[in-house]
Amino acid sequence: MIHQKRRKKLLSQLDEGALVIISTNPEQLRNGDVHYPFRPHSDFWYLTGFTEPQAVSVFSKDTYTIFLRDKDPAREIWDGKRLGVSDAPQVLKADEAYSIDELKTQLPKLIANATDLYYDFKPCTLDDEIITHLAKTQYQSLATYVHEMRLIKDDGEIELMQKAANISANAHQLAMQKTHIGLFEFEVASVFDAEFRKNNAEHAYTPIVAGGENACVLHYIENNKPLKKGELLLIDAGCEMQGYASDITRTFPISGQFSDAQKQIYQLVLDAQLRAIKSIKPGEVVSKPHQIASDVIRKGLIKLGLLKEGKELSEFYMHGTGHWLGLDVHDVGEYKQAGSHREFKIGMVTTVEPGIYIRKSDKINPVYWNIGIRIEDDVLVTKTGNRVLTQALVKEIDDIELLMREK
Ligand code: GLY
Ligand code: MN
Ligand code: MN
Repeated sequence: MIHQKRRKKLLSQLDEGALVIISTNPEQLRNGDVHYPFRPHSDFWYLTGFTEPQAVSVFSKDTYTIFLRDKDPAREIWDGKRLGVSDAPQVLKADEAYSIDELKTQLPKLIANATDLYYDFKPCTLDDEIITHLAKTQYQSLATYVHEMRLIKDDGEIELMQKAANISANAHQLAMQKTHIGLFEFEVASVFDAEFRKNNAEHAYTPIVAGGENACVLHYIENNKPLKKGELLLIDAGCEMQGYASDITRTFPISGQFSDAQKQIYQLVLDAQLRAIKSIKPGEVVSKPHQIASDVIRKGLIKLGLLKEGKELSEFYMHGTGHWLGLDVHDVGEYKQAGSHREFKIGMVTTVEPGIYIRKSDKINPVYWNIGIRIEDDVLVTKTGNRVLTQALVKEIDDIELLMREK
């Protein structure tokens, strides 16, 4: 029902005779004849609720047609059940369903009745002949319309995102409690694999489990080094629940106790994050959290003597403070409109994830070497300000040390 509503809302923004064509992702080979687990394209999933590969959805104000794989008893023994053409209209609320093999003959007929065509090229199920046909036809991009819709989450989406956030927060807490000197990063990573699968959730992205200097590699995913005394462990891991992502980072001492230098940097990142989160409310400009977090970190690093007045902060803080979150972990939706940063609106979800990364350098006091800290939470914009979906997970220094002592 919700998908039907979304298609209707989308069409209400397009011209009267508009026809929308949207396909899902192709299956991807991992090696030989082994596929990666299939993940539908987020726009297609959002508008259809259909999660099988090789499908194309075509709809206008008057009619909704879905093209999908035929039932195939022999293949279904190997790969699992398929919805099939005869059940599709009822299950997917479509007027017509055809075998994907009929796309070539049916699509030109559907297009013939349309005055405006909406379509976005991506690697997909449409065969070469149709792609050539479409390439010669005038059409407009659909993405902007769908992405603006996806940017504002409805109650059902928020509920799923809260579930994903809870599962991830709980997994982070267990990982903190399990961590000790001598474990390998992959052993801590296995906590997330188990917790996510136990809750019928998937990883929303490849987790980062980075001890010591590895935390200063922003996209470190090897996760295969031993955890050492005196070092910090940065974990960026989040699950996806029925397509909806969570995205959490916590950084904590492997031994359970922060050193003084680690405390100084950690508290600075935490202050930046808390101040940035506080700024999020309807009507505030979306660049505000980054501006605030950068200011707090710049001033703090200058005070600690790590950054010289007038020097670039990017040596220590080289990424943004957040991104939209939803069906994609780096979710769709523009950050600017007509060249200027837009404003937060109720129903948007953003991450807030400042960090400081200090690599080994002759110019820096060795007590700060290899400190890489990021703290990341997921924040929903509400009528009165915001709600931190990942609030359940500790992040104050004392709370982390207490949790790790009590394990
Ligand atoms: N985990 C991806 C990110 O934080 O953007
Ligand atoms: Mn993130
Ligand atoms: Mn993250």
